[in-house]
Amino acid sequence: MLDSAEEWGRLPSDFENAFRCAELIYLNGDECAAEEIWRALAPAAQRAGRSDVATYASARIARCASDWEEYDEAMEWYRRGLAWSRSLPHSHPARAALVFQRGTTHQMLDEWGKAEKDFLKGLHWEGMDPELTVHWDGMEPEVLRPYRSNALVDLCLDRLHRDPSAPSSLVGEAASWLDYARQGATTPRTQALVRANEAELAWQLGELREAVRRTRELLSDTSLPADVLDRNKPWLYRLLAMVALEQGDLSEAQLQAGYALDLLGTWRYPYVERVVVRDLLAIFTRKHQSRYGRYREEAVLGTLAEEGGWVFALVDYMETRDVYLVPGHGRAVAAVSTVLGEAAAAIPTARNGKVDRVYLQGAALLHDIGKLKIAWSLLNRTRPLAPIQERRFQRHVVLGARILEDMGFSMTARLVEEHHERADGSGFPCGLGELSLAGGLLALSEALVDRCSRTKHRRPPLPVEDAVAWCLGDGAAGFHPVALEALELAAESGALASVGALRNR
Ligand SMILES: [Fe+2]
Ligand SMILES: [Fe+2]
Repeated sequence: MLDSAEEWGRLPSDFENAFRCAELIYLNGDECAAEEIWRALAPAAQRAGRSDVATYASARIARCASDWEEYDEAMEWYRRGLAWSRSLPHSHPARAALVFQRGTTHQMLDEWGKAEKDFLKGLHWEGMDPELTVHWDGMEPEVLRPYRSNALVDLCLDRLHRDPSAPSSLVGEAASWLDYARQGATTPRTQALVRANEAELAWQLGELREAVRRTRELLSDTSLPADVLDRNKPWLYRLLAMVALEQGDLSEAQLQAGYALDLLGTWRYPYVERVVVRDLLAIFTRKHQSRYGRYREEAVLGTLAEEGGWVFALVDYMETRDVYLVPGHGRAVAAVSTVLGEAAAAIPTARNGKVDRVYLQGAALLHDIGKLKIAWSLLNRTRPLAPIQERRFQRHVVLGARILEDMGFSMTARLVEEHHERADGSGFPCGLGELSLAGGLLALSEALVDRCSRTKHRRPPLPVEDAVAWCLGDGAAGFHPVALEALELAAESGALASVGALRNR
């Protein structure tokens, strides 16, 4: 078994097989390993005169970068791929694949016009030479065509869903692309895709009962191969949740969203996970908006503990995605930060940096929410992380702040941004060495819980007393001085000992 990019790169005579193996690895959920192979393969193939493989590999690398929301990086690989593809015949499917993939990136960026142009170009180029198509993309041409026209259906529906200025004519456009896709759908996989989009279109047309009927029919269709159905399930439950929300049935929406999250854990295809998580976050945000009107962040955060089912559902899902995270991590950090926050309130020097308990607790609970957007294969990697992977892992801070910002939780987002910062500048993502008191309390609580838990590096969990001693001793330079003072007070008064979540982790 070859297990490193370098080893794959030593296979100059077998570029195609290397590419296909990476594709399989990707489909099995390890995009980190697949990406390593593609990154080694692309320049090597180009040097060896295999521009087709180099072009395909750049399309795949760009897809990975898009999944990481690293759009500049993705565009750079599209540019590189297009330059490499110049030596290929104009109608070569590698060019079509590259341009088609660029369309999906434009779609993620809400650049609807550019996305449509790319999808149409991809379809057109693909149609020019159907012979060649057979050999690539792991799909037969009769599968590929409805799959690609489905992308145009998806684009129309996605735009109707997310773009407030979308023209209503898009409904008709979606319907005609759906017709086109239906004609070519001859396999169970594409038929299921078309049926899922039919249900989605019914929802867009406001035919909610019809949308539910079609979705349930598809979910209970035992004639479909199990793997086809499994792949569609999270998507379909997400649709049921959105319909329920439209009908004003919030608890049903939450129930269906829960099913979607449960199922995401069993089949980890990055694109589906990304879309489902994005839409569920939007559902939960709208739920709060409908309940509280133009809600105040503080009011919603104040209710998390009582009716925070939806938040806990997302936090729990995020924590199960990362096998190195002990379940209940967010709640443990919230419990510790409450104790430290109370201790800090008694310190005279803390008066200038007033800490609002509600924000601190909310931020502690949600601090790692950005890991929802970090690839499962990266979170669970057993081998040491390469520098680029380390950088991507660290992005969970920025991505988490962005999720919270989108939900209207901007104060919470500011605190979450600080949870890995250190007073001596050794933290991330900024490494500036400046911490607010609330951010400092959060960072210290997180570090303490981390020390008391088994971790990625298989460091055994420390007893609470030893973890506290480390924070106050060897680790002290990294923390906010007032937060350390609060820790000392909480440890002395025995308040910390009452945090059960710190033990047996
Ligand atoms: Fe954490
Ligand atoms: Fe974190």
